[in-house]
Amino acid sequence: EMKDNTVIVVFGASGDLAKKKTFPALFGLFRQGFLPTDVKIVGYARTKMDKADFHSRAVSYIKNPDNDAGISASIDKFKDTLTYVDGSYDDEAAFDVLNAHLSDIEAKYTSKGLNRMFYFALPPNVFVTVAKNIKKHVYTETGVNRIIVEKPFGKDLDSARELLNSLKQYWSEEETYRIDHYLGKEMVKNILVLRFANVAMSGVWDKNHISNVQITFKEPFGTEGRGGYFDSFGIIRDVLQNHLLQVLSILTMERPVSFSAEDIRDEKVKVLRSIPPITQEDTLLGQYVGADGKPGYLEDDTVPRGSVCPTFAATTLWINNPRWEGVPFILKAGKALNEAKVEVRVQFKDVTQGIFKDITRNELIIRIQPSEAVYLKMNTKTPGLQTRAMATEMDLTYNRRFTDAKIPEAYEALILDALQGDHSNFVRHDELDVAWKIFTPILHWIDGQNGTRPQPAPYPYGSRGPPELNAFVERYGYQRTTSSYEWPVTNLA
Ligand code: BG6
Repeated sequence: EMKDNTVIVVFGASGDLAKKKTFPALFGLFRQGFLPTDVKIVGYARTKMDKADFHSRAVSYIKNPDNDAGISASIDKFKDTLTYVDGSYDDEAAFDVLNAHLSDIEAKYTSKGLNRMFYFALPPNVFVTVAKNIKKHVYTETGVNRIIVEKPFGKDLDSARELLNSLKQYWSEEETYRIDHYLGKEMVKNILVLRFANVAMSGVWDKNHISNVQITFKEPFGTEGRGGYFDSFGIIRDVLQNHLLQVLSILTMERPVSFSAEDIRDEKVKVLRSIPPITQEDTLLGQYVGADGKPGYLEDDTVPRGSVCPTFAATTLWINNPRWEGVPFILKAGKALNEAKVEVRVQFKDVTQGIFKDITRNELIIRIQPSEAVYLKMNTKTPGLQTRAMATEMDLTYNRRFTDAKIPEAYEALILDALQGDHSNFVRHDELDVAWKIFTPILHWIDGQNGTRPQPAPYPYGSRGPPELNAFVERYGYQRTTSSYEWPVTNLA
């Protein structure tokens, strides 16, 4: 149900995450009529700002891709919902001031059941302090309280457990919404439907039909000024352990009993628990170096000298259950690569030999971004009088098929879910725990806890990744197909 009369409080309101993601998403929802009309949004941060300052900051990243003429009127209305309170995160008196501010707002509401949603756009070192101070000073007794938090949730299994347990002292699982924004992406949400609403998919979704799976994240830019944060995390913590592992779990989980949040998350946890920790042998690390005038990772001033932090990683995971035994799942992610793309590539096995020779494999590609698409690479008879097979595809490209659809931003979808009390697309405590179990040994190796730190393979800025990558994926049975390939008649045995 929709939570009317909810006051939304954004902590860290003057920071980057709030400016770039939280406020634009709140505006998007507001504009499309998904927030209660009388919603009030309160910013809280340390920076002293007057209302005008805060307003211009909060709307500075709102885009208008469709050149919509009405947008500035909407922005003005949105500003009317926004107020700001400054204070530090450990000052309990400041939280009392915030509470009084919220009570003033709520006094104007006529209906009952006044809810508060607290969005943490904060660095992790203040998570626990803020969680505690809200609980002590700003927790409402008249309605539902919710917190929304986002990674980093620790750096390994032990630190994640410590953080999660500290938060749990104040906030129950029911009240907590842990964001992994990949779960808010349209195509990631579609995976459940593709799999479980199509017998033609679910029938071949196992080790008997699938040879290997790749989940790939590529960004065409480097850390550029964000190196300070990035260097202490690395690409595995930044992207693989959360975003790509989430995609993997949805791709491989068993059919949930229902689409309720707990039924879905039970199945995700179950499949993740069947994955043993990643090994060094199954891991390829890389770091970009300067090329074509673009700076290498080590040339970024915010990066410590001589850092061996990986900006690229490919790791292969195995699932020890009857459906997936022996199927390699290759997760790969990199910064400063040749393109922007996130996709899942499911490569099926060879057809039985005998009537075709060297025929290309089927592949199902789920393109998460940019330009959402699902397509199946398949063989077909070349149209015409000759008898020969050729590789082609069945193609569901969203912007061709769904010309009028507006694909929501991930953060819009997730904030709306949280307002409606739906946990399905948020990360449960035990899910995070098992995700860290899978990655912690390899992270400790990379961090040098067992001796010297491994040296990542260099790759040029703007390339496809380390040159070792082709051999790496081929080792797990991946067969490359050239798109321009035409099957000559002599391929028919
Ligand atoms: C974030 C990472 O979680 O996801 C960033 O910290 C990365 O390094 C980003 O750029 C990618 O998100 P998206 O939605 O642009 O694919």
